[in-house]
Amino acid sequence: MNYLQNIVRSEPNVNVKLLNYLPKIGIGSAREEIFTGLRAKQKYIYPKYFYDGRGSELFEEITQLEEYYPTRTEKKIIAGLTKKLYLDFSGLNIVELGSGDCSKISLLLEQASREELKELTYVPVDISESAIEKSSVELLKRFTLKNVTGIVADFYCQLNLIPKNRNRLFCFFGSTIGNFNAGEAKAFMTSLGKTMQPGDSLLLGADMLKDINVLERAYNDKKGVTAQFNKNILNVVNNLTGTEFDTSDFEHYAFFNEKKSRIEMHLRAMKDMVVNSEPDREAITVRRGETIHTENSNKFSADDVERFGKWAGLELQKILTDKNDWFSLSYYRKI
Ligand SMILES: C[S@@+](CC[C@H](N)C(=O)[O-])C[C@H]1O[C@@H](n2cnc3c(N)ncnc32)[C@H](O)[C@@H]1O
Repeated sequence: MNYLQNIVRSEPNVNVKLLNYLPKIGIGSAREEIFTGLRAKQKYIYPKYFYDGRGSELFEEITQLEEYYPTRTEKKIIAGLTKKLYLDFSGLNIVELGSGDCSKISLLLEQASREELKELTYVPVDISESAIEKSSVELLKRFTLKNVTGIVADFYCQLNLIPKNRNRLFCFFGSTIGNFNAGEAKAFMTSLGKTMQPGDSLLLGADMLKDINVLERAYNDKKGVTAQFNKNILNVVNNLTGTEFDTSDFEHYAFFNEKKSRIEMHLRAMKDMVVNSEPDREAITVRRGETIHTENSNKFSADDVERFGKWAGLELQKILTDKNDWFSLSYYRKI
């Protein structure tokens, strides 16, 4: 997550390029956004700030936890995908939004022929530079691709920076769409629809509504990895804004909000505190028991999945699910 330095790197002997567009947003805007959240009545920090290098590593650990069903469930659907969708990779580039590690895209690429891979450019888009670097190297060890063009950017406001030279298959896995509130999801899908051109398509992973116990267990794992991930957001905020939050003053708090059909993650203060930041900024006051809302993870229905397509002006071709209907992967096309 580098808002300061514009990085354009190319490796001479490997077909990999890394472009960092976060400086276009600027550290100043990131700071303002964070302080606005920390001064709100219900304090909040946007979930994109989870993902520094450590945050990306912790998320990868979460995906391997026994309690965390979404990753393994979605992976099973991806593994059998191309036959079910008659997907043809020839002439396509793949753009993965919020790419994280490369495990899901690898499952998809395994289903392409060598000839198709040799012509394919993979474009991972993520706010975490380290995640893109690590996953690109790993991917190129496994597959001979024409190119990897990593884009470090905020997919909420920088979709226009994605290259447009061929037909593109956009992948948005991991139910990351569930981290937006309803207004943001609509704005994001509308903007994605405008970015896509006729001939482009989209694979969208969405976590479905299910038994509350299954949901709450997934965000309260026994090893406490989700708690570490949640608390790490304060380290990221400290680094970006100069605040002096101590993660040990907070506890992880995650629950299912039935009315809003979403898991909410918060950090609950265990004591009253005054947190200093830059000399010219007022300190932040936090009361014992008060929470900082760090993430929503909305749980969806088939109607929601249809609505996503409508917002984007895309035609829904198919919804694939697992045997329990716990997770869905939907395929849309821009006609
Ligand atoms: C829930 S994780 C999913 C990762 C991976 N797609 C998966 O399915 O396991 C969200 C991913 O999106 C990235 N991300 C979150 N907010 C972002 C934003 N505003 N712009 C770009 N990437 C973002 C994070 O760095 C992370 O890799």
